[in-house]
Amino acid sequence: MADANNPNGGNGAGGAGNGDAKNGGKVGLLEKVTTGVKDDIQALKTDIPTKAKEQIEGLKDPTKTQVYTSIFRHKHDDTPRNRALGVLSNVFLHLHPAKINRDAVRYSYTWGMGGITFYLFVILTYTGVLLMFYYHPTKVQAFRDVLYLKHDVPFGKILRNMHRWAAHLMVIGVWLHMFRVFLTGSYKKPREFNWNIGVLLLVFTLLLSFTGYLLPDDQLGFWAVTVGTNMARATPLLGHEGPFGHQLGMTPYNDVRFGLLGGSIVDANALLRSYIWHCIGIPIVASVLMIVHFWRVRKDGGISGPAPVMLEAEADKPRRGPKAAGE
Ligand code: HEM
Repeated sequence: MADANNPNGGNGAGGAGNGDAKNGGKVGLLEKVTTGVKDDIQALKTDIPTKAKEQIEGLKDPTKTQVYTSIFRHKHDDTPRNRALGVLSNVFLHLHPAKINRDAVRYSYTWGMGGITFYLFVILTYTGVLLMFYYHPTKVQAFRDVLYLKHDVPFGKILRNMHRWAAHLMVIGVWLHMFRVFLTGSYKKPREFNWNIGVLLLVFTLLLSFTGYLLPDDQLGFWAVTVGTNMARATPLLGHEGPFGHQLGMTPYNDVRFGLLGGSIVDANALLRSYIWHCIGIPIVASVLMIVHFWRVRKDGGISGPAPVMLEAEADKPRRGPKAAGE
């Protein structure tokens, strides 16, 4: 006889009666499979309606659907924790800190100048890409393209002027930003490194303006770049007229001015080099530096700001949020 507890159906007993044990084993196995399948079907009968009910209920409340929870990864109740999570778990909002010292972001403290400078850079990038659709950096076409933009391209004049004005404003903005950082002493410990990144950003902002100046290939740009690059002759070490330049073997045909112009006069090569630096080289370097700059603002403890204060008038005011309501 098969041992009910023996999973091998008593096969191990050996000798006479082995055939019976085998039959008994088969029956036991069949019974188990049948019962198992029956149980599964029974479970499905009860599970499917319950799950379907849950899903229908879920559809009534969209915040419970799988699609919703896969996008928004936390509740939206108005608690301080959820407000913070709302900022932290959103790719755009998380660029800002979840909590800030309100005195540090007062307009009277920052003048909003860093942010304004950045937004101007965004406008410049956007309008600059659109201008690239119409402009060719060649002696024959450059100035004609500018005239074409001014007189014929739909919205061409406003596009070009947005780019020009944003460039002027960015230069003013970056100086004012640096001035306020200086006035508020925000260059001091622990922000010395970020001040230096800022100095590089200032240089690259000016270089962006300078390289853009030549692109219309008009008299203004031509002479500005002639004067500017002539000054480069006198660069220490790298200019052939600069201190120690001569000793280092600098000549008008291998010094920094030659490198900037791609020759010894302001001509087609200078136009092409200005274009490439202006549209590709400098914006990439400046963007990387801005990313580091913003990251450091956060890592250095947020915008410096005065010590947080509570005004006497605010002392009795109820706090926002459920804690204040005693929940
Ligand atoms: C493209 C140029 C620049 C951009 C887009 C930029 C952007 C910003 C932004 C958005 C902030 C946050 C606070 C605020 O808005 O005032 C900031 C902070 C700061 N920036 Fe700039 N900045 C630039 C150039 C500079 C320059 C030229 C300097 C100085 C040489 C500088 C030094 C600093 C410092 C030290 C802070 C921290 C200030 C604090 O914690 O109060 N930045 N920058």
